[in-house]
Amino acid sequence: MLKKNLKEFDSNIFTLFDKKWAIVTAGDKNVGFNGMTVSWGGLGTLWNKPVAFIFVRKSRFTHEFLEKSDSVTLSFLGEKYKSAMTVFGRKSGRDIDKFAETGLHPSFEPDYNGYFVAEAEAVLKCKKIMGLDIEYDKLPDNIKLDCYPDKDIHTMYIVEVKQYLTNEE
Ligand SMILES: Cc1cc2nc3c(=O)[nH]c(=O)nc-3n(C[C@H](O)[C@H](O)[C@H](O)COP(=O)(O)O)c2cc1C
Repeated sequence: MLKKNLKEFDSNIFTLFDKKWAIVTAGDKNVGFNGMTVSWGGLGTLWNKPVAFIFVRKSRFTHEFLEKSDSVTLSFLGEKYKSAMTVFGRKSGRDIDKFAETGLHPSFEPDYNGYFVAEAEAVLKCKKIMGLDIEYDKLPDNIKLDCYPDKDIHTMYIVEVKQYLTNEE
């Protein structure tokens, strides 16, 4: 994959996560890794750093790796991988090997401990800064009802974007 300047990352942030989705992978060679689909999140600037924000419920297998490791990647895939991304968003790495099931491949580079999806159009290699649990009691009632009927709350992970890679054809 080609290393690019983050200034060249050109996307509408309001559709990037919501419509395109991303596969988040967390973990590394020491603790293992897992990936899942996310459609809630954002990109921005915080503490003078380029950052991404992702929201992962505590029940997800991927949450365990986000807690155990600082290596986090966001892989953005083309439309033809939508069904593979649906598998990453419906099945758990506790039950199946999602890479084997979908034919996607985990990839890594010597300068980085984490894994990303080899087939991605764009990858953001990140380093976890911190995780913050959403405080259920502070949420408005409509969001409690809509999004947290079982109180399966999200942890918001703030991750620093360290490198932008593309798979230009
Ligand atoms: C389109 C789509 C978007 C999703 N977005 C999120 C999200 O932002 N946060 C989250 O916790 N789960 C989200 N999910 C659900 C997880 O991807 C799903 O529960 C997955 O099976 C978890 O896998 P794991 O147990 O291997 O971590 C989404 C699912 C789909 C299909």
